[in-house]
Amino acid sequence: MCGIIGYVGGRPCRELILTGLERLEYRGYDSAGFALLAETGGVVEAVRAVGNLSQLRTAAGLNAGSSATSGVGHTRWATHGRVTTENAHPHTSADGSVLVVMNGIIENYVELRSELQDLGVVFRSDTDTEVIPQMIAREYRGDLAAAVREVLPRLGGHFAFVAAHVDEPDRLVASRRECPLVLGIGDGERFIASAIPAFLRETREVMLIEDDEVISVEAGSHTVWRGDLEIGPRPPQRVDWDEDAAEKGGYETFMLKEIHEQPAALWDTIGDRLKPDGSVELIGLGLDDAALARVERIHVVACGTSYHAGLVGRYLIEDWARVPVHVEVASEYRYRTCLAGPGDLVIGITQSGETADTLAAMRVARERGAHVVALTNIMGSQATRDSDGVLYTRAGLEIGVAATKTHTAQIMALSLFALKLGRLKWALTSAGALDLADELRRVPDVVEAYLESSAPEEVMATAATYADRAFFLYLGRHVGVPVCFEGALKLKEISYIPTEAYPAGEMKHGPIALLEEGSPVVVVATDGHVFDKVVSNIQEVRARGARVIAVATEGNEEIESHADEVLWAPRTPALLSPIAAVIPLQIFAYGLARSRGLNVDQPRNLAKTVTVE
Ligand code: F6R
Repeated sequence: MCGIIGYVGGRPCRELILTGLERLEYRGYDSAGFALLAETGGVVEAVRAVGNLSQLRTAAGLNAGSSATSGVGHTRWATHGRVTTENAHPHTSADGSVLVVMNGIIENYVELRSELQDLGVVFRSDTDTEVIPQMIAREYRGDLAAAVREVLPRLGGHFAFVAAHVDEPDRLVASRRECPLVLGIGDGERFIASAIPAFLRETREVMLIEDDEVISVEAGSHTVWRGDLEIGPRPPQRVDWDEDAAEKGGYETFMLKEIHEQPAALWDTIGDRLKPDGSVELIGLGLDDAALARVERIHVVACGTSYHAGLVGRYLIEDWARVPVHVEVASEYRYRTCLAGPGDLVIGITQSGETADTLAAMRVARERGAHVVALTNIMGSQATRDSDGVLYTRAGLEIGVAATKTHTAQIMALSLFALKLGRLKWALTSAGALDLADELRRVPDVVEAYLESSAPEEVMATAATYADRAFFLYLGRHVGVPVCFEGALKLKEISYIPTEAYPAGEMKHGPIALLEEGSPVVVVATDGHVFDKVVSNIQEVRARGARVIAVATEGNEEIESHADEVLWAPRTPALLSPIAAVIPLQIFAYGLARSRGLNVDQPRNLAKTVTVE
C-alpha cells in the first residue's frame, strides 16, 4: 500500500515523478503529493491533494517547479490518520529541512512521537510517517545518509521510505524493512521507487534494496550501507518486462485488459514446465523430487482472491495426489497454534508477494521447521525472500485492483503442482497424468476462444439488467464453492453491492431466509458429479421466488430449463472448471459495476497490495 518514488539526475523531473506516481497508483489512491528541490537548496514546489493523481495534477497546475532535477512523490492508502491534505505525503520536519515519503507502518510511532513532543517538537499530521523527518532533522549534522543510519534502528515495523534534505538537493537517501524498494539506474540519473513500473519507461537496470540497508542516491552513483558498514556495489539486474503492461492497450480499463490477458497468463504459467510425457518440471521449489514425494501434509495460507485459488488447489491436490491439504486465511493462521513442522509443506499464495498477513503466516510456519514455498507473481518480492522455494505465476503485471489474471494463473500453477505431486506419489498412473497434462494444455485455448466469442458481451448485457439490485446470493458445490466465493468477492469489491457466498448445501441452514420474490441468486452449475445436486438447490431457491443466474458449461442443454439466465463458461474437465467458470463471473461483476458508472480499476477503500495487518 502506498507508492513512493524519488528521482535525482540531470533532467527536469516534475513530469517523471508525476508519471511514475501514475504507474504506482494501483498501490493506493486516496491522496497524493510531491516535492521538488531547487538546485541551490530549498523546496521549489510542494503540492499535496486529497484524491487520486488527476486531482494532484489539477492542484499542482502546470509548471511551478519544472526545472528541478530532484524530488520525491507519494500516492497514499491511509493507515494512520484520515484522508486529508495534512496527512498526505511528503511529510516534513518542523523546520522544513527534511522531507520524507513512506510506505508501510512505523509500529512504535506513538512512543517516538511523544518522546519528540516532550522535546518540544511540533507535529502537523496524524501520521506515523511524520516521526521520520522529525527524527532525521534532529540527527542531521550535514550528512543525510549518516542521519538516516542513526534513525533507522529506532524505527519499529515494516516500511520503505525516501528522505531528502533541502541543503543536499542532489541526493536522496532511502531505506526499507519488509516493504519493497527498488533502485532504477539510468545514464546519469537514479530512480528509487516501490515498484519497477514507476520508472520502467526510463530504465530497465534495477537493483533491489535489501532489508535494513540504507542507500544514498546521487545522479551518477549510489552507495549502500548496512549499519555503519559501507557495502560494495551489487551488479544491477535487467528487467525484460513489457512496458505496455502498464498501459491499457486500447481497453477501457486495466481490469478488462487483464481479463482478456488470461489466455496468455495461463499459457505462460504452463510454459515449458509441462513436458510431452505428462511430467512437470517446477524449478525453484527448494525440494527435490524425493523430498517432495515424502510430503505428507500441506498447508496453504493466503488472503482474498489468492485464498480462493488455494481452496481450488485443495481439490486438485487431494484428488490427484491424495495428500491432505489445509487451507486457511493467513490473518487467522498466523495467530493460531501452528502445528506445521518439519516434513510439512506450506504454500503461501500472494500475487504481490507483499501481503503482510500472508508473509507473517509463512514466517510462523518456517520458524516451526516447515518447508515454505511462495506462490507469487512478482520476482524478487518479499515472499520470495521469506521462503525456502518459489513457484511463479507468469501473469505479467496486474494493475487493476480486483485480481483476475493472477487468480486463474494461480489455479494453473497449483494444477501443475498437483499433477507433479500426483505422479511422485503414484496416485496417478502415467496414462492418467498424460490425459491431465493434455487437458491442462487445452485450458488456455478454450479460454481464448471464449473471450473472443460473443459470450463476454452477452454476460455484460445480462449484468447491466441487474445493476439496480441491492443484494446477490452466490451458491456452488464442490469446486464451485471457491468459484462462487470469488465471484461474490469480485462483485462486492467493484460494484459495492453486498453479496453472500455459500456452499449450496449450507443454504437451507440459514441463508435461504434472505430470499424473497425476485432475489438474484448466482449459482455455479458447471458440469460434474454434483450437477444434479446443484439443480436441486436451484429448485429450492426458485420455489422461494428467487431469480437464478446460472454459470453453466457450454453445451449443457438441461440448464436452460432450470435457470432464468445462463452465463456460459468454456468447457473443461470438472476439476479445472474453476478457471473456466470464474471468468464469466469476473465479467458479470465488471459489466454490473460499469453500468453503475463505477471506477473498477480503483474501487474505494481498496489497494492492490496490502502491506499492513
Ligand atoms: C481481490 C484481491 C484481493 C487480494 C488479496 C491478497 O480482487 O485482489 O483480495 O487477492 O489482497 O493479495 P495478494 O495475492 O497480493 O497477497
